[in-house]
Amino acid sequence: MFRLKTIVFLVVVAAMALTACAPAAQPTAVSAVPTTAPAPTTAPAPTTAAPAAPTTSGGYVIPVAKCAPNCTLKDLTVGFIQTGSESGWRAANTSSFKDTATQEGVTLKFYDAQNKIENQVSAFHQFNQDPSVNVIVLAALDVTGYDDVLKEAAADGKVVILEDRRIDAAPTNFYTYIGSDFINEGHEGAAAMCDLLKNSTKKNVVEISGAVGASAAIDRAKGFREKMGACGITITQSQTGNWAVPDSKAVMAAFLKQSTDIQGVFAHNDEEAIGAIQAIQEAGLTPGKDIQVIGFDATADGFKYLISGQMGADIECNPLLAPQVYDAAVKALNGDATVPTWVPSKEGEFFAVQGADALNAILATRKY
Ligand code: AHR
Repeated sequence: MFRLKTIVFLVVVAAMALTACAPAAQPTAVSAVPTTAPAPTTAPAPTTAAPAAPTTSGGYVIPVAKCAPNCTLKDLTVGFIQTGSESGWRAANTSSFKDTATQEGVTLKFYDAQNKIENQVSAFHQFNQDPSVNVIVLAALDVTGYDDVLKEAAADGKVVILEDRRIDAAPTNFYTYIGSDFINEGHEGAAAMCDLLKNSTKKNVVEISGAVGASAAIDRAKGFREKMGACGITITQSQTGNWAVPDSKAVMAAFLKQSTDIQGVFAHNDEEAIGAIQAIQEAGLTPGKDIQVIGFDATADGFKYLISGQMGADIECNPLLAPQVYDAAVKALNGDATVPTWVPSKEGEFFAVQGADALNAILATRKY
């Protein structure tokens, strides 16, 4: 009897020990044997993924503003980085931004970099740090040198727009570029020089180029060379005139000392063409007769030399870009991804052969 009891006792103890060792059943397990009606499981709320940030066709992720989608020109605080004040064209470009800002109620923080790229980069950095600035507009002195501040602008949520000059950076770095097709301007310049030299057996042309590194100079030079072969033009000498009359006069005087076998001058803007004309006259030659001169910009000063016949052709470069730039800036604040990465400026070309009357009539309608 005692033994049976002991055995039963030992069996019970053993069973209890076994239950204690088994892993604690996950609540779900225990509940495998539902004791009560299972609580209704609410399907997890669908997670609404944040809408993708609007991105332009160039891959630029637009930093949309709080005022979107109803931002207006009055919501703009623009940090504007200008090259400097190197020419009549530049003065007209600066006025376009200042006057339009006043008219439209845009807050404009204007910075004149005095033609030093290091000034542009430090101004860009300051605008990145400035919480009130929501759009940065750059007129680039050079095609390179802005990578760090462009990255910083993206990190700081600043819209970046290029005006006037392009840079060698992927369109993922800026909302849009509003400016000239400088290569096409070069093409038009070559065609104009070919026409001016059509009766000349020789077609030796000297080039007074714009500031080194500027897209306007690089692309005009490229465009002219792409088309000059059509009539057998040769560029015999080339040097920068820094967009300025005195520098270009000195360069042309040196060219003439080097060789008088010159039939044409390819000057990259009006100031450089005017400097060349002064040097040609001082060398006792007649500009527009002994040597043909072309310029770019078609400012009021340029028109004067067209009308006098000393300049044979003037290829327009439009400086009045502010309205387009501010409109694009508002679109960016509103997250509009439809604006193309390049909006080429609308431009024409003018010739001495149009005659003084016609040119004066055109000049009377122009704002710069
Ligand atoms: O970028 C445009 C050029 O810059 C103009 O042709 C010249 O006059 C200015 O300096």
